[in-house]
Amino acid sequence: MELQSKPPILLEALIEDRAEVAGIFARAAPYTPLGGWFRPDLPGDEASSPMWFQNDWVHADFSVQGADLFFRNPRLIAAAQEFYAAEVVVPRTIYVNLMAAIAECGPAHTDNPTFRGRDRTNTPMMLLRSMLWSGLFERWYVRQATSIWWMNEVQGGGLCYWSDGPDQPPRRHHESMANTALVGDNHGMFHQVEPVGPFGGGTLRVPGSAELGPVDDGSGDWAVTHEGSELFRAPFSAYRASVLWKADVYASEAERREVAPDLLSLADVCRIFNEDLATRGATLRVDLATIRDPTLPGELAVVYPEATPKAAGRSMFDPN
Ligand SMILES: [Fe+2]
Repeated sequence: MELQSKPPILLEALIEDRAEVAGIFARAAPYTPLGGWFRPDLPGDEASSPMWFQNDWVHADFSVQGADLFFRNPRLIAAAQEFYAAEVVVPRTIYVNLMAAIAECGPAHTDNPTFRGRDRTNTPMMLLRSMLWSGLFERWYVRQATSIWWMNEVQGGGLCYWSDGPDQPPRRHHESMANTALVGDNHGMFHQVEPVGPFGGGTLRVPGSAELGPVDDGSGDWAVTHEGSELFRAPFSAYRASVLWKADVYASEAERREVAPDLLSLADVCRIFNEDLATRGATLRVDLATIRDPTLPGELAVVYPEATPKAAGRSMFDPN
């Protein structure tokens, strides 16, 4: 698939009162190390997780108090409308990242796609990615705008992004990031978090079951704890705290209504892959019995390869 994107829109001074955001961060504590598709084999007690913590603020029918500051933010909605030249923007999720002491980059990646009828709840994540890279399912692709907003000015922690395409050098947002947001297409545009300070001790790793939250001693510090021991402690302002907002985008209300009933079934996915594989003369076939097989995305990637972004930094998850 050809990736087409354009530079995200930069919003400055998005939030009037950042103390309000600090309160939401505290209310939504504790935060746990990144798991999911990057780290499917995340062990619980071994100190193997970089200090990249996450939590949901808004997801399905859950919303942390105060999250509307972002969720229904008129400037984010207007920027998404402008970026996509679209009238209808439906906010969907907010999740947040808290990072510290990571000497390597995050993985260069595009965000995981959703198709009408097929998402993480009913379809393996890597299969969704194969579907995206095949370019065969665009009719059902849910266009989503993403905003990333940054809370603090920290050491490092910039964002590299390939808005000119994965075969061109990346651009960077790395200075004066506090209270700015980038609004664009993180599903079509590769992006990568740069190393995050404090530097000096390399990448500190903690158990997958460690937790990050505010210390209740009036200091304003946040600490990483595991089974009662404190593994790391720093002022909240030293953590790279980012808020990720995602919204579905439709050209018009008429388009939203028209496409809503057009859902993709797993049987459709098999049929569409198989028709294309046959046209290409490939021997691989997909059926309902094997479609959740974890080895299938790797086989599909031979036919439908993912792009590799040029000049990406070394990732904390790269094998040594
Ligand atoms: Fe991302």
